[in-house]
Amino acid sequence: MCGIVGAVAKRDVPAILLEGLQRLEYRGYDSAGIAVAANGTADIHRRRTLGRVRELADSLREAPLHGVTGIAHTRWATHGAPAVENAHPHMSRGRVCLVHNGIIENHDELRAELAEAGYRFESRTDTEVVAHLVEMALGEEADLLEAVAKAVRRLEGAYALGVICKDQPERIVAARAGGPLVVGVGIGENFIASDALALRPVTDRFIYLEQGDLVDITPSSIAVWNAENRAVVRATVRVESTADATDKGEYRHYMEKEVHEQPRALRATLDGRLGRTRVLEQAFGINARQVLDDTRAVTIAACGTAYYAGCVARNWIEELAGIPCTVEIASEFRYRNFVTPVGGLFLTITQSGETADTLAAHDIAKAAGFAHTATVCNVPTSTQVRESELAMITEAGTEICVASTKAFTTQLAVLMMLAILLARRRGLGAEKERELVAALRDLPAVVEETLGLNRRIRRLAARFIHRHHALFLGRGLHYPVALEGALKLKELSYIHAEGYPAGELKHGPLALVDEDMPIVAVAPGDELARKVRSNLEEVRARGGELFVFADADAGIAEEDGVTVVEVPKTHDLLAPVVYTVPLQLLAYHTAVHKGTDVDQPRNLAKSVTVE
Ligand code: M6R
Repeated sequence: MCGIVGAVAKRDVPAILLEGLQRLEYRGYDSAGIAVAANGTADIHRRRTLGRVRELADSLREAPLHGVTGIAHTRWATHGAPAVENAHPHMSRGRVCLVHNGIIENHDELRAELAEAGYRFESRTDTEVVAHLVEMALGEEADLLEAVAKAVRRLEGAYALGVICKDQPERIVAARAGGPLVVGVGIGENFIASDALALRPVTDRFIYLEQGDLVDITPSSIAVWNAENRAVVRATVRVESTADATDKGEYRHYMEKEVHEQPRALRATLDGRLGRTRVLEQAFGINARQVLDDTRAVTIAACGTAYYAGCVARNWIEELAGIPCTVEIASEFRYRNFVTPVGGLFLTITQSGETADTLAAHDIAKAAGFAHTATVCNVPTSTQVRESELAMITEAGTEICVASTKAFTTQLAVLMMLAILLARRRGLGAEKERELVAALRDLPAVVEETLGLNRRIRRLAARFIHRHHALFLGRGLHYPVALEGALKLKELSYIHAEGYPAGELKHGPLALVDEDMPIVAVAPGDELARKVRSNLEEVRARGGELFVFADADAGIAEEDGVTVVEVPKTHDLLAPVVYTVPLQLLAYHTAVHKGTDVDQPRNLAKSVTVE
């Protein structure tokens, strides 16, 4: 949930570290810091600031630091409030300095032990204990690598660490057990980072570390030791990149850009996977056939927006393939005594592929004997992809805005293809598959047309800015869409919003409805349209103001207190993809009108790599 970057070079590294932090800011942004081993002196110089990385940049502009070896960090607070003294890097006795992403669960007992040994604590963080542990081990071991190895053996929890030492200034030792960490391979210089994106300006070659790895890097060498303390060689991969995702182009915010990228992202996701009339199974890799042949039941685990994509997919899988599908919130599943189904496919859905709860749920399911594991993921080099048997990649491109948009709609596209592949094994007729493939092929164009609602929704959003609450309603396939719409509105505009199945209103939430409670309804003209219409009548009868997203077949007319936004028609089963788009726009414009931080909402981080 924090971002780490480190460099060991023959040139000054602060500018490289700062650029890396700016690219990692999506991972956390309540404080930032940098430490460098200064040229020609034996000191480590450190600077930490509260707030965004730009505060750190301003401070460095006013009073630059210089050094050829350095580490830096952008923080999302877990232990200890956002404050300069809690910001990383953390230092022990001016000798050891480190950055950490993750959580040290046994920090209380270590803190007591270290205090007893005479270490003075300057922060409220769990991380500071690691700096002192390394310093203590260094006293005995003298070698930084040995000291870090010894210190991490004492840690319980999850971590990615980058450590420098004033006595061994041309060296970074890093460790990975839980948090993501890559090594960037340069020429006469090497790097570490939480995400390869941070290092794109300096290299396109990366080593992805495995759980339990320790790495010792100097400007001219990279040596990796595995969890069993054996020297190992990890592959170096070249990562090509096309357009630079960190460029906002003509857009004001990354979110606006990413919402408008959806037609392209959907095209890229469908590209090469659809034949004329069929979904091409081979396009999902050589494992696909075996995994799908063996699947008798599906368990989906995910968090947040990705969980809602799973809720839509459950309807598709059960309706088209006729096999049982359950959807689990990963953070709950990991602590539940669940029953492992026979022939169970454990499917994770994750944009980042680094979400700690989803990764843990995956490991638990694997150990519990699920027949196969698969993932729908947007980052081909992520931990989740590397640890799943079958990876179905969404081609959304890098998503920078904390609020997920194009990742969600591309996840739905992949999940529909998966549902079709499972259904084909259980009697899905060629005609039905042809119909669905045609609808998938049209989907990017329908989403493009839906983006044409942008200006209308911007005006509509102005009517939300003074509201404190909102209810989002949907039924069937569109209940998860309502949940996603409510999540977008609350995380971006800080307006309290709840998603509800429209039929459930009368069992409680109807009591909330009055003229101050806007009700957003997702109401396409499908087989549930009649039911939704009568649920909306119940709302009107209580004076609730309705904002209805519907198509021409829904039979809902605009009248006093009822605003209807007409959404382009698509295949009923694919309508969740299309109806999500206006809800994204509603949340976006409400946030812009309110002046909240659209791309980096308060208290959140893009990639939740801690529990
Ligand atoms: O990277 P993941 O898809 O695993 O992330 C899961 C959630 O944290 C994420 O979907 C979150 O809910 C969204 N950013 C909300 O917009």
